[in-house]
Amino acid sequence: MQRAAEFLKSFAQAMSALSLYPEGHSVRERALDATYEKLTDLLSEDPAPQFTFLADEVIYGKSPLREMRNWEWSSRLSGIGMQRLEMDRTTTRDDLELLLSDALGLLSGAGINTAEARYMRPSGIRWGEIGIRGEAEGLTAVETATIALTLSEEADTIRWMHEEVATGRDLPMLEVEAVVRALSVAMHGDRQMLLPLLKLREFDEYTTTHSLNVSVLTMALAEWLGFSAGDVRAFGVAGLLHDLGKVKIPLEILNKAGKLDEHERVVMNAHPVEGARLIIAEEPELDMAAVVAYEHHVMLNGGGYPSFKYERDCHDASKLVHVCDVYDALRTNRPYRDAWASDKVLAYLEERSGVEFDGGIAHAFSTMMRNWGPQVVRLTEDEPLPAS
Ligand SMILES: [Fe+2]
Ligand SMILES: [Fe+2]
Repeated sequence: MQRAAEFLKSFAQAMSALSLYPEGHSVRERALDATYEKLTDLLSEDPAPQFTFLADEVIYGKSPLREMRNWEWSSRLSGIGMQRLEMDRTTTRDDLELLLSDALGLLSGAGINTAEARYMRPSGIRWGEIGIRGEAEGLTAVETATIALTLSEEADTIRWMHEEVATGRDLPMLEVEAVVRALSVAMHGDRQMLLPLLKLREFDEYTTTHSLNVSVLTMALAEWLGFSAGDVRAFGVAGLLHDLGKVKIPLEILNKAGKLDEHERVVMNAHPVEGARLIIAEEPELDMAAVVAYEHHVMLNGGGYPSFKYERDCHDASKLVHVCDVYDALRTNRPYRDAWASDKVLAYLEERSGVEFDGGIAHAFSTMMRNWGPQVVRLTEDEPLPAS
């Protein structure tokens, strides 16, 4: 991963050098040397690296390159038809130079013989649009390539984030935002929305999958209700962090199969206050996420926990997360109960609306879930998302 990102950074520097200096100029030659060296490093650990450039994302092999997100060259390269770039160990420095000058030619609008550049040169490099891969001999072999995106990196990041916070380290805000962005990318397919919800593999991974699912559901619901893109993202962060306070709860209580005793119940019910405290202490700007962590178990009629001293309404984001939280919890196998079918959960949400849940929000949620039926996919974190 590291070498792939370094190669791309060097690639961008060489593109700039090539556009500024004529052939033979030392700056240009040095930049090419450096990029070829990075490529050789990369090829030594990966004999056939594959890059996919999307508008705001770079995929290396099958995984998004997190640190290259929003890399400005990604949208430029994809804009000139270089959405897929493949190289192998036969690649020479001359091949690399040709690739760079072809890309520059296309970027400047000068025009090149694209078919020749892509397929016909005896080169270790191939490039083209996603889904079309020419073979070295020519244009005859066309193969549909799919990018298999999974949510495993996001799940790893959340596990790591919980560990960091549990051991008293800072809340890694950049990673939290990166996960929310990745979820949002996964949800917006080419043609239609997708609701990727993770299936639980192990009981003790509940908080990880649950956090990701609540984030996805909350963003989908916020979008369904017409909130702005910025709000949707902020609600996604709040959904991801709503149970952060659980990192302080011992696992034997968190995963207990039987009923909690009085002491255990007190520990468990402290997680909203604990979560709000953790968030606000670390990131005062995340005040909405802190409010949501605090309020997500408060019912519309004031029941639930923690109890308010004076009666007041909860934040809209808390009401959204509350519905999504209960939906995901009931859809999941827990040590003390089996998962419910989706219809049963939606009926439950409707039945409790006006008492536990805000009527309008619960109704909007079940309408959305029924409308999107086939687009709701349940998968494990290693399973690729279906193409949409
Ligand atoms: Fe909770
Ligand atoms: Fe929860």
